Amino acid sequence: MHNDSIKKTVGVALAVCLVCSVFVSTAAVYLQGIQEKNKHLDKVKNILIAGGLYDKKADIQKLFSEKITSSLIDLSTGEALTEDQYTDKLSPKTFDIKTMAADNQLGKALTDEQDLAGIKRIPRDMLVYSVMNNGTVDKYVLPVYGKGLWSTMYGFIALSNDLKTIKGITFYEHGETPGLGGEIENPNWRASWNGKIAFDDQADLILQVLKGKVIPSSPDASHQIDGLSGATLTTRGVGKMIDFWFGENGYGPFLQKMREASSNG
Ligand SMILES: Cc1cc2nc3c(=O)[nH]c(=O)nc-3n(C[C@H](O)[C@H](O)[C@H](O)COP(=O)(O)O)c2cc1C
Repeated sequence: MHNDSIKKTVGVALAVCLVCSVFVSTAAVYLQGIQEKNKHLDKVKNILIAGGLYDKKADIQKLFSEKITSSLIDLSTGEALTEDQYTDKLSPKTFDIKTMAADNQLGKALTDEQDLAGIKRIPRDMLVYSVMNNGTVDKYVLPVYGKGLWSTMYGFIALSNDLKTIKGITFYEHGETPGLGGEIENPNWRASWNGKIAFDDQADLILQVLKGKVIPSSPDASHQIDGLSGATLTTRGVGKMIDFWFGENGYGPFLQKMREASSNG
């Protein structure tokens, strides 16, 4: 067949496409396991960062298993599940927010009124991490998620064992614009959350994410967070995410249980 013939040109193009697609599919299948593992490690790293434990040089899996205990909490009662309640689909080892939320039995739909964070569904139980220090809980690292401008933002927020003070925040997955909403990952902005007061003495939520800057001399400054400039909509999403997860349909019942336990003990 002549090199200029249409048949030969199309044939060569198809052959190149076939070889490339086989190559790409093989690579995708082969790398899937590695990608899953890296995703898991990134999540562990973010839990450690939120909990103030991350050390670049440390083995993060080892640090996690030495310093952190994980418990599945029934969100509606605030009670921790016992090991005999674990199943193949519901256990700390297999827990995955998206899978749980989507499941008919293990997840539930939120009404429009309940859905402050724009997430539609939540798991019935959430995996909560306790940062331990000499056998007692130093802080809780709580998984949170909420809708930003372009995406659902997934992260962790750490609360001190006084159940009032924020100790850290991280985001490990989102699709907000780099330099605008993507600044939720900015270490300086994240650091500005540390020490802010989320709940007052009556356990009412007072933490606010502002549009604009906190006025340092304001009496409210201790419970306010700077908005991200040029990213009002993402910032609003973060604020609503806090309202939801620290409210009655999020960790409210769990935090109330912990308050009662600490005032009794
Ligand atoms: C390409 C593009 C990407 C944007 N990405 C974001 C974003 O990730 N988060 C956000 O809140 N606003 C984003 N915005 C800006 C919003 O449309 C809106 O103008 C902004 O939230 C208003 O914030 P400001 O009141 O602080 O200026 C983006 C705008 C453009 C044109």
